[in-house]
Amino acid sequence: MVQQSAPLWSSRFAFVMAAVGSAVGLGNVWKFPYMAGTGGGAAFVAVYVGCVLLVGVPILVAELMLGRRGGKDPVGTMAGLGARFGGTPAWGLVGGAGVLTALLVLSFYSVIAGWALAYVPKALGGVFAGADGTATQAAFAGLLGSPGTLLAWHTAFMAATVFVVAGGVRGGVERASTWLMPALFAMLLALVGYGMVAGDFARGATYLLKPDFSKIDGGLVLAAAGQAFFSLSVGLGTMLAYGSYLPADVSIPRTSVVIALCDTACAILAGLAVFPIVFAYGLDPSEGPGLVFVTLPVAFGQMPAGALFGAVFFALLVVAALTSAVSLLEPVVAWGTGRHGGSRKAWAAGVGAVAWGLGLLTIFSFNIWADVRPMGGDRTVFDWIDHLTSSVMLPLGGALLAVFAGWALPKEVSAAEFGTGDTALFRAWRFLVRVVAPAAVLGVLLDRLT
Ligand code: PFF
Repeated sequence: MVQQSAPLWSSRFAFVMAAVGSAVGLGNVWKFPYMAGTGGGAAFVAVYVGCVLLVGVPILVAELMLGRRGGKDPVGTMAGLGARFGGTPAWGLVGGAGVLTALLVLSFYSVIAGWALAYVPKALGGVFAGADGTATQAAFAGLLGSPGTLLAWHTAFMAATVFVVAGGVRGGVERASTWLMPALFAMLLALVGYGMVAGDFARGATYLLKPDFSKIDGGLVLAAAGQAFFSLSVGLGTMLAYGSYLPADVSIPRTSVVIALCDTACAILAGLAVFPIVFAYGLDPSEGPGLVFVTLPVAFGQMPAGALFGAVFFALLVVAALTSAVSLLEPVVAWGTGRHGGSRKAWAAGVGAVAWGLGLLTIFSFNIWADVRPMGGDRTVFDWIDHLTSSVMLPLGGALLAVFAGWALPKEVSAAEFGTGDTALFRAWRFLVRVVAPAAVLGVLLDRLT
């Protein structure tokens, strides 16, 4: 097998951890709990887990496979494989759409990571000591109401992302992924433990884990599917790019299962940390994007050494966000240097600057544009960017990659990359990417758009 990209990772283990680092981030700790809350709890969670298993993991396998086979940036990989197996290099457009989507996602991702960054000094300074839900809500509203403050933290986070990507991903992200991500996991566990002692754990757990299937409709399925794509980092070329650095002796199905397990475990733990506090303190589960930022600080304000614990927690969340943001910038930079030449540093800075500028749309959505509804309805500008990327572009991109891997890529090639031969597992995967994933995505999209 040709390995065209320079190996980014020093070992197999490091690769797997970097991919886990991409998957685990704000999507798990920030987005999953509030999406579950606005989606009514366990019904959302059940559909989400179904989407991860039946659609997300098979597409993750497909993306890593195509990435390793193509060996280039997402556009180059899809154009090359398209010309070779798919009848036309126009398949490169799927990679191109992914690169654009990555830019858009990065733009708001950095703003939200900025919220977490802002909460490190807040927690450390004892702002939350003894605070109840009303106080933490006021603190959060104060942050959102200040575009200048949001801009400062957004700038700091984007600069850090650019710095890491410009320097080559290897050293820093590897270390962050292998040491700090497990630390975040341990903190989440501790918070779940805290919820058992001090929160309304029974109610929180029931809310999250006991589904009422009558609540499921097309909108909920689309939101859950979108969240599954977002959380696994699939559908926009990140895993195509990471796959191009994937050593030949790594098992793609096994890696994908590890990524999905770590990712889903973190999301569920975050939910189990948040909802017992929500119910114990009379907060609103459907609060929206601020949910973790108003609930967890209540816990930090009550527990012993909560100031330090809270600061460390938000710092680790920032690190988890950084390893994900890097994986959003990386494919765009890989495309730029691969396609147009120029230095890695210049591309990282330039693309980072564009994403930074687009981030202003998100920042203003929470203050000076808080009442702006670009298409009527109740979506703000940020809601639109989030909806278009997570619920439309990622599922579409993922479905097209699945179709390519299932129908255009010859069976011998996918079997060789899958690495198990023509086993039942391989056949199951092939059926999922050929039929189930595209049908599911098209089904829910059509249901919502008509
Ligand atoms: N998976 C990341 C998270 O859950 O926070 C976000 C993300 C990273 C999405 C990379 C997409 C991506 F390509």
